[in-house]
Amino acid sequence: MAIVIIRQDNKLEAWTDSLRAKAPDIPIFSYLEKHPKEEIKMAIVWKQPANSLKQYPNLECISSFGAGVDFIFDDPSIPPNIPVTRVVDPVLASDMSEFVLAMILAHFKNLFHFTADQINGVWHPREYRRISDATVGIMGMGALGSLLAQDLERNRFKVIGWASSQKSISGVNVFVGEKEKNTFLSLSNILICLLPLTPRTSGILNAELFKKLPKNAFVINVARGGHLVDEDLLEFINNGHLAGAGLDVFHKEPLPGEHPFWKHPKIHITPHIASVSDIDSVIPQLLENYRRLAEGLPLNNTVDGVKGY
Ligand code: GLV
Repeated sequence: MAIVIIRQDNKLEAWTDSLRAKAPDIPIFSYLEKHPKEEIKMAIVWKQPANSLKQYPNLECISSFGAGVDFIFDDPSIPPNIPVTRVVDPVLASDMSEFVLAMILAHFKNLFHFTADQINGVWHPREYRRISDATVGIMGMGALGSLLAQDLERNRFKVIGWASSQKSISGVNVFVGEKEKNTFLSLSNILICLLPLTPRTSGILNAELFKKLPKNAFVINVARGGHLVDEDLLEFINNGHLAGAGLDVFHKEPLPGEHPFWKHPKIHITPHIASVSDIDSVIPQLLENYRRLAEGLPLNNTVDGVKGY
């Protein structure tokens, strides 16, 4: 019984080394080294190469390194009916919350524009906004959205949420489902997308939705690039309906050099860095699930394969 680690970025070695250090009794392999395929029971993955999971005939669990699992369900070659788990971690949630808070305040206080002005040697006072001026609407009230709502509320923001089922968060009015979506949107001066990416939410940030936001709304997407219709965002910023956007995630990452988002003065991009799984914080839950698998116990943080989150 063994674990394989599959990720194509430069963190493969760090995760493999740390997992081995924390669990010297478990055989743990990086997918790049020679390893016994039939012994692999658990694959821990981040944007795995296509078809890479097919080669493990005895796989019993696919575990995401992050909160999102869209890249697992996107792979048509994953063996059917294998439980998929994701990371639910307080550090991941608080990092997200800090990032979104920074993005909102940078927008309210014109910090993006002042940085550009400084580079251009321009002294240009601009009118700022206050926390009390706006309502923040959060789409997606899972582990990340719920903590963000509470943190914003503690920081004196008016906060509302939109979710697929009723959620109770003190001080936060949560609108539910399609029938309450338009009301939610009409109140959201700052719109934050923290939805899981599924066939139902793909392209949800589109012209229809932007039209329903108040004039001068600001859109922050920290979920997945697939939620956003890029051309619609550009249209609604360029026609003056939206004040701008903060985007951390993109259809293609890294964002291709010729993409119009790069040079747009009202679009502020960051390289999918809003919240990144912290090795020390996340490893215990990955190993706990491995031990549960070994003992035949139910796994933690499983994802509903039909809903996709
Ligand atoms: C990051 O994008 C994650 O899914 O954790």
